[in-house]
Amino acid sequence: MDFTDAPLDQTAAANLAEQNLTFARVDTANDRERYTGWHEVVNRGFYGDRKDDKDVEYMLDAGAYRRLCGVWDDTEAGRDPVATIGSWTTPLSVPGGDVPAWAISAVTVSPTHRRRGIARNFIEAELRTAHACGVPVAALTASEATIYGRFGFAPSARDARITIDTKRARWTGPTPTGRVRFMELGDLYERGRAVADRASRQHPGEVAFDEMLWTGTIEYRPGKDDTAKDLRAVGYTDAAGELQGFAAYRVKPGADEKLIAKVAYLSAATDDAYAALWRYLIELDLVDSVEADLRSVDEPVLWQVSDLRAVTVAPFDHLWLRILDPVAMLEARTYARPGSVVLDVVDPLEFAQGRFLLEIDVAGTASVSRLSGDAPADAAHVTLSERDLAQIAVGGTSVTSLHRAGRVSALTDGAVERVDAAFHSPVAPRLSFWF
Ligand SMILES: CC(C)(COP(=O)(O)OP(=O)(O)OC[C@H]1O[C@@H](n2cnc3c(N)ncnc32)[C@H](O)[C@@H]1OP(=O)(O)O)[C@@H](O)C(=O)NCCC(=O)NCCS
Repeated sequence: MDFTDAPLDQTAAANLAEQNLTFARVDTANDRERYTGWHEVVNRGFYGDRKDDKDVEYMLDAGAYRRLCGVWDDTEAGRDPVATIGSWTTPLSVPGGDVPAWAISAVTVSPTHRRRGIARNFIEAELRTAHACGVPVAALTASEATIYGRFGFAPSARDARITIDTKRARWTGPTPTGRVRFMELGDLYERGRAVADRASRQHPGEVAFDEMLWTGTIEYRPGKDDTAKDLRAVGYTDAAGELQGFAAYRVKPGADEKLIAKVAYLSAATDDAYAALWRYLIELDLVDSVEADLRSVDEPVLWQVSDLRAVTVAPFDHLWLRILDPVAMLEARTYARPGSVVLDVVDPLEFAQGRFLLEIDVAGTASVSRLSGDAPADAAHVTLSERDLAQIAVGGTSVTSLHRAGRVSALTDGAVERVDAAFHSPVAPRLSFWF
């Protein structure tokens, strides 16, 4: 079943009806009025300024394909919901490939209706609906780290803010033969997305751009009146003249009036593009530091400057995943070590509950099955929660670390080390934007 055709979850609808609340889909094609109200409530929910009409029109068009739901208070007449949620399916990159994910966004409950269980009903409804559609994993970015663990989500990819003191750090990395040149933002909009898509596939944890996410990330869309006047972009073209990367940035004074080059987005589909763009930023005249958000916790640029202490890496949780179908999820990725692994997963919401056997071949491909009986004696056998499974699913956390934290238990000798070696991702997972 396609995500747009999935019926409204009747359990949540019935629970909410007991509080005189109506849970319903927004008809994005035919009910522009209600759809506009839905957007305004999302914006208000995140304390955003009111949007102008052109921005609203753009969002209504670009986001219309998503599955949007709201809750209306039956005791209040009016167009606007008291709570909102949106979802769509998207490829999620995993080690060695990708998997369809159920992206959840725009979760707001009006402050007038908070802590009455509306979000709980919403989120659980999304999980049931995604599961019914056969989507193996749900994904979101969280405004607070305390909200989603109770629904089985875990921080599967952490990101970092990288700050480089460019008065101290001298470039010591390679000097690629391609060229860095300024790009107009319109050109970046047209040609950059294909590069960003290629670059993203090299990192587990990336969700695909759609039009709205792309324009939001590069802070530009055609025809927008108040396009950022301070944003500059450079592109890297290789010796064959092909665009392989770009950086959009602005230079601003910090609190101490020192100039900071703030990177809005840097994407590199090749190592040469990566080196050339970082070098460009680090060597900007007059600038005291470069600051880039939503970078990997394991950035090569650390090893491309003369002074490691000139670089600060501040990690935080970013991509949250919730496993709905362990068999499909675990088969979608590749593994770093062959062998047999058995995972006993405990899941209070039952989606991921059970015993799963992974038979990993020398190419790193796993055949995964649900076991009803005993685990093979030679398998690396561990027990873990659905959250632990989400946390290791794309290689974002070491199994050893979760074991030492008292969360993953070994049922056979050496199991933790073997599972760790298998689930390790050589490239740290990362998600490069908010959604
Ligand atoms: C976060 C938000 C959606 C929660 O909505 P809500 O309807 O009040 O949540 P519920 O009443 O369904 O609460 C469900 C559970 O989550 C907990 N919870 C809700 N919001 C929480 C928060 N901000 N921090 C920690 N726990 C939270 C509740 O205590 C409750 O826990 P329990 O059932 O285990 O006792 C709402 O406060 C909101 O809109 N916040 C501002 C926008 C935002 O941050 N949205 C999330 C985007 S990722």
